[in-house]
Amino acid sequence: MTTTVNGIEISYDDLGPIDKPALIFLHGFPLNRSMWKRQVEACRGACRVIAYDLRGHGESESGEEPFSIPLFVQDLLGLMDALRIDKAILCALSMGGYVALKAAEEHPERFRALVLCDTQCAADTDEGRANRLKAIHAIETDGVAPFAEGLLGKLLAEQTFEQQPGTVDAVREMITSMPPHTLVRSLRAMRERDETCSELFQLTLPVLILVGEADRIAPPDASVYMHNALPHAELVVIEGAGHLSNLENPDAFNTALLRFLETHCA
Ligand code: MLT
Repeated sequence: MTTTVNGIEISYDDLGPIDKPALIFLHGFPLNRSMWKRQVEACRGACRVIAYDLRGHGESESGEEPFSIPLFVQDLLGLMDALRIDKAILCALSMGGYVALKAAEEHPERFRALVLCDTQCAADTDEGRANRLKAIHAIETDGVAPFAEGLLGKLLAEQTFEQQPGTVDAVREMITSMPPHTLVRSLRAMRERDETCSELFQLTLPVLILVGEADRIAPPDASVYMHNALPHAELVVIEGAGHLSNLENPDAFNTALLRFLETHCA
């Protein structure tokens, strides 16, 4: 399905009982809503489940404006308004988590609970910002394919490469299907993002934090930090997973997620 939000077409799936609390999935970079397939199937009995493509990703339009985390937040709120969702539960991975944290910090009244997956509240370090520029240069010079191979090696745990070739191929396909200019715009948006750590103590929503034990992009330490700073958070480490814990160990991920939703989608 599609709807117009902030002047662009956003593509989304909207499944499950309409009278249940809405659970909205936000994907990571540079992926799309198909990464949540197993979670959408697992949760659609418990909640109204919405998975959408952030602007410029998957089947959503990108528009003309430079991307930014605040613009992604406006899109999220616009989508909620278009779908008549007053208050949602967000389940957000990595870049999706940057959006969820900013949205909850600025509009806490619009959310019931958060599931923060393989993400962090810190802004990029100087080194991280320099690496974003290197990545932009590499995409503009050499194209998407070498960038995709380099990123895959950081996104997935070694055992995923050994044991789940289908998952590796699916992630590669998501990355290589992104237009280069959209990759660049999202890299710039993440490079420019503000930290949200200093506001965590004020976030009184219930939060479930999930992190792959071998996550090298938003390592478990970043999740432990958020767990300690948030007033009402629980933390589950997903074994045998890297940065894409929902894809790499969906059984453990879904068990933790469904247990959390038993309370919050009831
Ligand atoms: C993501 O998975 O969304 C990105 O890798 C996050 C990042 O690069 O900071």
